[in-house]
Amino acid sequence: MSDSPVVPRPTFHFTPLHNWMNDPNGLVHDRGRWHLFYQFNPEGPEWGNMSWGHATSTDLQHWTEHPVALRFRDGEQIFSGSIVSTPAAGGTELTAYYTSAYANGRQAQSRATSRDGGFTWELDADNPVLDRGTSAFRDPKVIRYTDETGRLRWILLAVEAEDRQVHFYASDDLRSWEHVSAFGPLGPSGVVWECPDLVPLPLDDDPDDVRWTLILSTNPVGEEPDREGSSMSYVVGRFDGTRFTADSAELVRLDSGRDLYAGVTFDSAPQGDAIMVGWMSNWRYAEAFPSTPWKGAMSLPRQLALHTVRGRPRLVQRPPSFLLEQLTRAAQATVVVAEQPVDLSLSGHSVLDLRWDPDTTGAVSVRLRGDADACVDLEHSGRALRVTRRGPAAEAVHADFPSTSVAEVGTGGPVQLLLSLDGPLLEIFADHGEATVSNLVPLGLGPIVVTVGTERPGAVTYIAVDVASDESIPDSAATPLHAPQDHPATAL
Ligand code: FRU
Repeated sequence: MSDSPVVPRPTFHFTPLHNWMNDPNGLVHDRGRWHLFYQFNPEGPEWGNMSWGHATSTDLQHWTEHPVALRFRDGEQIFSGSIVSTPAAGGTELTAYYTSAYANGRQAQSRATSRDGGFTWELDADNPVLDRGTSAFRDPKVIRYTDETGRLRWILLAVEAEDRQVHFYASDDLRSWEHVSAFGPLGPSGVVWECPDLVPLPLDDDPDDVRWTLILSTNPVGEEPDREGSSMSYVVGRFDGTRFTADSAELVRLDSGRDLYAGVTFDSAPQGDAIMVGWMSNWRYAEAFPSTPWKGAMSLPRQLALHTVRGRPRLVQRPPSFLLEQLTRAAQATVVVAEQPVDLSLSGHSVLDLRWDPDTTGAVSVRLRGDADACVDLEHSGRALRVTRRGPAAEAVHADFPSTSVAEVGTGGPVQLLLSLDGPLLEIFADHGEATVSNLVPLGLGPIVVTVGTERPGAVTYIAVDVASDESIPDSAATPLHAPQDHPATAL
């Protein structure tokens, strides 16, 4: 078995044609297009020469890559940041804030504007325009805040990464900023805070109870950094236009998998939706993941909501409507799983919706295998969903790559799991997005065999869609395959 199995390029997620990519930057919906800028190395497959790459989409599924938007210069890299769209004569103006990371170690915020919808940019002559004289001040996210009188103010959040603090600035004109407050530190030490976002969301869809969710990405640092690597968290609270106050002193994991980082939301999304995209990798082993000639992929765009789950406000992430619509159009099938597990076959670019009643089936296991010497095992039991990636092809990526991720899932009632698999990108949405688990999975090429086992005989209902071809699996393929003789044990 080769150490580096073929990593198929995702078809319904964004990947750059060539070279290194990390964080999404400057997510904005403008003039009918979704713009994705991103941390990009125009010159190679490793981190460096950081610039803003650029891609656009009209449906969040199909992306077109454009020339580099903001290019590194001698002595200055262009780190992460954000964009807002404002009305201007004859259309809109885009204002970008990004971190200038200077070769002398200083990090400060700079500004650029675009009048042609994000294709050409004019840098502010006064850059950097926000400078604290420090070396880990970065990742500006500009958001909108409308006060009780209806007045719009711009708020810029940026981290002092090593202090684990978010600094808040306010502005009326997107140009001059007043420092209004700071939040943090909170939660575990031994990490830097990166890529903050602050998102207003109605709790349980009640427009009179809007809560503000502070989203953070944290990356372990220090002498013995946590080998699990980087991850995202959030804290729910209130924001009065000046100060963020957390409802509880607890950072909650945003995604229970290993590979979701630097997620932020789009400015100006239609209907004010909060749509987040993250980078599907982990600083612990991002450079080691054997994809080529591209290195780095974005997550699915996820629609955020805030629901009371097990008595607490929890961020809910729903898959994008283009996926849900394909599922609605596809045929549903049911298999009864008894002593023998049942195999289904999927393309390597699929979405699979699985439902069962745990009162009947007991615990349920799902194994995914492609043509590489690796597999992913899901075990749903009681209140836990465990997702394990294992096997020689997983071990070959990096010593810390094999992993088991555990997500807390609902109690009582039927279970729903939605699996989105696009080449090496596996995103699991449990209980309609109340929990998510996002992982890189080196399964190799499809078809993917999905083996479903149950603790007790019971029905499992599923819908499978081959997203690459925009078609549901034809009836013949939806018929369960025979259980192979050397079936993996599913003892639960
Ligand atoms: C997060 C991050 C940001 C920084 C960028 C550099 O992944 O470290 O804090 O702006 O990546 O590429």
